[in-house]
Amino acid sequence: MDDFDKKWEEFESSCRSCESCDLCKNRTNVVIYRGSRKAPLMIIGEAPGESEDLEGKPFVGRSGKLLQNLINSFGISEEDYHICNICKCRPPENRRPEPSEIKACKTHLAEQFRLVKPKIILLCGSTAYEGFFNEKPLMGQVRGNFTVRNGYEIMTTYHPAYALRNPKMKVPMMEDFEKVYNRLVELNLIKPSAPINPVN
Ligand code: URA
Repeated sequence: MDDFDKKWEEFESSCRSCESCDLCKNRTNVVIYRGSRKAPLMIIGEAPGESEDLEGKPFVGRSGKLLQNLINSFGISEEDYHICNICKCRPPENRRPEPSEIKACKTHLAEQFRLVKPKIILLCGSTAYEGFFNEKPLMGQVRGNFTVRNGYEIMTTYHPAYALRNPKMKVPMMEDFEKVYNRLVELNLIKPSAPINPVN
């Protein structure tokens, strides 16, 4: 086992044994990531829902299907992305995580950044934005623009669940994904590829 694998194992085991907030009480699984452990693109959502809690992986339900379609439509391969959430345990009734729960999870997320070493971060939805920037966003204003913070290039877009409720929002989401894709190519972090699947 190399040094990275060892650090990753320690990181996962500290997540799995975490009792820093009450969300630990009702979880089936701690939901850490899917995709690659090292990746140029990190995609961050809010918190696991029921399917994610049961499977132990983020974005595997309906929102996940839309997110995955967007990723696939630009031909971004699994080795190039790392998907996770601001909170690693499911809030009851799928409510938004409380600020105290987001704060409790931040140490884990900070370690995840150190290990994954993304260059570009895509924040999906207002909770991810708030968790990252510590301020409430006006989504219509912040989405679609890159900002640089702590050496990361950060794009904010809508949460896929919001686009499922408001299908028109798939268009701006697609535009934001296109900017992310173009920047990844421009920085030589991924190889350009022909789009494969249209978003539906
Ligand atoms: N919504 C999220 O924000 N994250 C998930 O993992 C699933 C749904």
